[in-house]
Formats: sequence, structure tokens, C-alpha cells
Amino acid sequence: MFRFISYAIGLVFIFVLALAAVTGLIDSAGAETSEADLVREEFHASNKDVHWSWEGPMGLGVFGGFDDRQLQRGFQVYKEVCSSCHSLKRVAFRSLQDIGFNEAEVKQIAADWINEVPDINPDTGETTTRKATPADTIPLVYPNEIAARAANNNALPPDMSLLTKARPHGSDYLYSLITGYEPVPANFPEDQVSEGLHYNPHFHSLWIAMPPQLSDGLITYADGTPATVDQMGQDVTAFLTWAAEPKMEARKAAGIGTIVFLIIFTAFAYVAYRRVWADVKH
Ligand code: HEC
Repeated sequence: MFRFISYAIGLVFIFVLALAAVTGLIDSAGAETSEADLVREEFHASNKDVHWSWEGPMGLGVFGGFDDRQLQRGFQVYKEVCSSCHSLKRVAFRSLQDIGFNEAEVKQIAADWINEVPDINPDTGETTTRKATPADTIPLVYPNEIAARAANNNALPPDMSLLTKARPHGSDYLYSLITGYEPVPANFPEDQVSEGLHYNPHFHSLWIAMPPQLSDGLITYADGTPATVDQMGQDVTAFLTWAAEPKMEARKAAGIGTIVFLIIFTAFAYVAYRRVWADVKH
């Protein structure tokens, strides 16, 4: 009886697997591959490979943290270049202290921020704006999505707070995209060119509404580092990776601590086991 039940369960498993395989095949045969899809497949470029400080030795990601000087440079790129279109609504000015700015600097950065914080006039109840303080999150660039699209050729510049987490291999992707604009290849099919957009083989549709942003010497770094496209691309990516996971270093430290604890605990358990059974065994 027991054997029969296990055979039956096995058969049901096989049947479900076979069904999944067959429907999968039907699905992929049924899906139309348009010319646009083929072109996208042919010209899409995979991510450039960068070794990031937080990937640690051998790129394992277990050790390795952020480099505060790089994060500060990245913040400068975000502030001077990206922040005119992309918001960073989950980052409070105050948290910039975690990347090495002091209290007075943070206060100044908040007060000087180009967009102000929406507020209400306590006397008249009318809407107004006020200067940001360190307790505020970075103010939105546009009041809403309609305004954002209207200003950007109907495309929406996404909020950057979680972008490196939201895309697969987000840091590599962001860096590749922002440094990856190219002239349209000579063999690119004429009818697949999108007027008004910019060719970028790292973007899923190959044509992106965001114009190229970086050029050598675009900004002057406060720490004197030469501002090449590659440098700015890496720095801003590091900063946005930190913005998406500011507590990464603490998380890793906790993980390593846990493993060390478990190893020591296992050793103790083993010694205890030997002692408890020492007399019984012989
Ligand atoms: C002039 C406005 C503008 C500026 C400045 C700008 N962007 Fe963009 N960005 C856009 C728009 C609009 C899109 C959406 C493009 C689309 O959907 O075709 C976009 C998209 C992106 C994407 C792709 C997001 C995705 O959905 O995968 C990345 C990454 C990006 N921007 C990074 C940056 C970085 C980094 C900077 C600063 C160095 C920057 N952008 C500066 C307007 C801008």
C-alpha cells in the first residue's frame, strides 16, 4: 500500500513537470518575435564589469565596504548633475554624516539645496516652501509624475533611492548605462532608429530619453580628483549604491559575527559531547 502511494506521488510529479515543459514550449512558440525584438537582442550590450570596493577580495561580497571619499565625490556628481532630474526621496540630508560630511557641512548642503521643501504658511494656511534642514529628505525635483514627464519628453526620470536594488546587477547596470552612450552602429537598421531619443546599448530598448550626462572635466571635484567620465560614473554609482543600502557594512559585520559565533559554539558543543560520553563509550 505504502509503495503504491509513493508511486502515485511520483507519477503526479512527472505529469506536472511534463505539463510545465509542454506549456512552456507552446508559450515560447506562440510569442511573436518582432523585428524590434531581434534588433534589441543583437545590439544590446551586457554590463561592463567593474570591481567595486564593497565587493571585497575576489568579488565575493562578504568583506569590503564603502570608500567614504568616493561616496562624497559621488554625492557631488549627483548634486551637480543628476539632481536636476532624478529625486532621491528616501535619503535624509542628515544621513550624509555617515559618509563623512560634518554637521555644519550637512546643514549648509541642506540650506543651499536647489529645490525647497513644500510647507504651509502658519498664518494664512497657504502653501509655500522653505529651505531644507538636515532632518528633511532630499526635496523632490518635480511635484508629481505629470510634471516630471512634461519636462522630460514624456519620459519619467526614476527616483534614484532604490534604483541599484531594483535592477539586476544594479550597480554594474547603472555605471554601464551612464558611461555607455555610443554612436549608432553603422549596421543598425534605419527603421528601428527612434528620433528624439539617444542610442545606448545598455538600455533595455536601446533608445533612452535621457541625453548623455557625463563628459570629461564636467565638474571640478572638491578633492582634486580628475573628473573623467569613468571616474564620475564609478563615483556616482558608488554613492547611489550606498543610498540604496546605507547599512550594508553593518549587515555584513553582523553576518560575519554570527558565523564566528557559530563556529565557536560548534567547537564547544563538540568538546562537551566528548566529555559527556567519555565514560560511557568504553
Ligand atoms: C535632464 C534630465 C536628466 C538628468 C540631468 C539625468 N537624467 Fe537619468 N534619466 C532621465 C530620464 C528622462 C530618464 C528615463 C529615460 C527613459 O525612460 O527613456 C532617465 C533614466 C536614467 C537611468 C535608467 C533608469 C532605468 O529605468 O533603468 C539611469 C540609470 C539614470 N537615468 C542615471 C542618471 C545619472 C547617474 C545621472 C547623473 C549623472 C542622470 N541620470 C542625470 C533624465 C535625466
